[in-house]
Amino acid sequence: MDQSMKNLFAPAGSAALITGGTSGLGHAIAEAFLQNGVDVAVCSRHPDSAPELAALAEREGRRYLAVFCDVTKEDSVAAMLDEVEAAFGPVLLVVNSAGRNILKPAEDYDAASFAAVMDLNMMGTHLVSKGAAKRWMIPAGKGRIVNLSSAKAFLCADRNYAAYCASKGAVAMYTQQLGCEWARFGITVNAIAPTFVRTPINAKQLDDPAYYRKVVGHIPMGRLGEGRDIAAAALFLCSEGAGFITGTTLKVDGGCTGLQ
Ligand SMILES: NC(=O)c1ccc[n+]([C@@H]2O[C@H](COP(=O)([O-])OP(=O)(O)OC[C@H]3O[C@@H](n4cnc5c(N)ncnc54)[C@H](OP(=O)(O)O)[C@@H]3O)[C@@H](O)[C@H]2O)c1
Repeated sequence: MDQSMKNLFAPAGSAALITGGTSGLGHAIAEAFLQNGVDVAVCSRHPDSAPELAALAEREGRRYLAVFCDVTKEDSVAAMLDEVEAAFGPVLLVVNSAGRNILKPAEDYDAASFAAVMDLNMMGTHLVSKGAAKRWMIPAGKGRIVNLSSAKAFLCADRNYAAYCASKGAVAMYTQQLGCEWARFGITVNAIAPTFVRTPINAKQLDDPAYYRKVVGHIPMGRLGEGRDIAAAALFLCSEGAGFITGTTLKVDGGCTGLQ
């Protein structure tokens, strides 16, 4: 053994771009990065909705930038990447956390709703990944991309999840493809598959006590996930030591995808 085991979990870049970093899991990941030595740019359609991240960055002595972006639109992504680059230079850590769900029974799932879910969860992930890779990571010969898939890429619900499950299954396979395709550029591409973490995406569902009991009852660990659980996985996948892990989808689900 000749390699040092020191700093195995040091971040593999000095700055991160987090889509959907203003809310929920992206927000938790932004907090974790800021508290672990990484400058953070977040983007969403309401970039000023998380002023507490700017305050945290100031306390931590890190740079923070919040930029408008609709990640489903290629020109909006290009403008956002321009703005991030002007402030931070090339960014080698990217987390795609912007996502949504629309709950409808499959037999009533109209084309517009289905397309809206696929557009954000899948196409948004692609547009930001390819933009960041082409501008920053491929020229640098390194980079880390982390996508938010879901336990729903592996588990079904009894109703309402046709588009969401399809989109998150697509994210997992897309991640695997990019992991293979961009290995030659030194870029790792991985995904995280969380079970339920209470955020605005699911707060209404979890407010129903019967639904909440059903969800928790299906998680062997006996609790919902927390932002911290997901942030830890993102930090790990963006660490120096994770450089040989690519194309994988890391389940952070308290064991629920294994339970029959
Ligand atoms: N929470 C969970 O239990 C859970 C479980 C498994 C997987 N996930 C996945 O984790 C990711 C984050 O979910 P979350 O729970 O953090 O949801 P959330 O709290 O609703 O956050 C979603 C974020 O995406 C942004 N966003 C929405 N549309 C956008 C667009 N067109 N362009 C750019 N940003 C956009 C939102 O900001 P604006 O509205 O201001 O644009 C917000 O910052 C999603 O992909 C979700 O599917 C979540």
